Amino acid sequence: MAPSFLDILRVHTGLHARFLAHQVAVLERDFDTAHKLLVEYRRKLLDHMRDEEEALIPIYEREPPAPHGKVEFFVHEHRTMLESLDEIRDLLAAAAQTPEESSHAAILALLDRETSYKNFAEHHEMREERWLFPALDRLATAEEKERLIAQCMRT
Ligand SMILES: [Fe+2]
Ligand SMILES: [Fe+2]
Repeated sequence: MAPSFLDILRVHTGLHARFLAHQVAVLERDFDTAHKLLVEYRRKLLDHMRDEEEALIPIYEREPPAPHGKVEFFVHEHRTMLESLDEIRDLLAAAAQTPEESSHAAILALLDRETSYKNFAEHHEMREERWLFPALDRLATAEEKERLIAQCMRT
């Protein structure tokens, strides 16, 4: 099958799996592992956002975007996601420092925040699937398509 920028959706799936592994560690009260997996997830997410902002969006800007696919939406949502992960990091640290017998509320506060983060990220990914990646399939040259899809899929 011909390469498509929609192949990059597999990067989103890989990120979901990393976040789930972090959440499993939270459920197991293994806070050191949960922290390590959260840091790794954030690093991979940041790599992916940089690919989108520095390599893909300049091509996307070759034609005027659809009303729901404006560049500032993608970029602003990236910033919001990173800020949410900073809050999640702090809630995780608070849960880790709470004595075990009274930590249920802190763990639930963390998981509630993580649920709203996941909902927001899903909304962002749907915007990319609907607007960004299909437009790139039209706008990129064959050389750009091959090179940039490989770059985005490298990890
Ligand atoms: Fe994105
Ligand atoms: Fe993305």
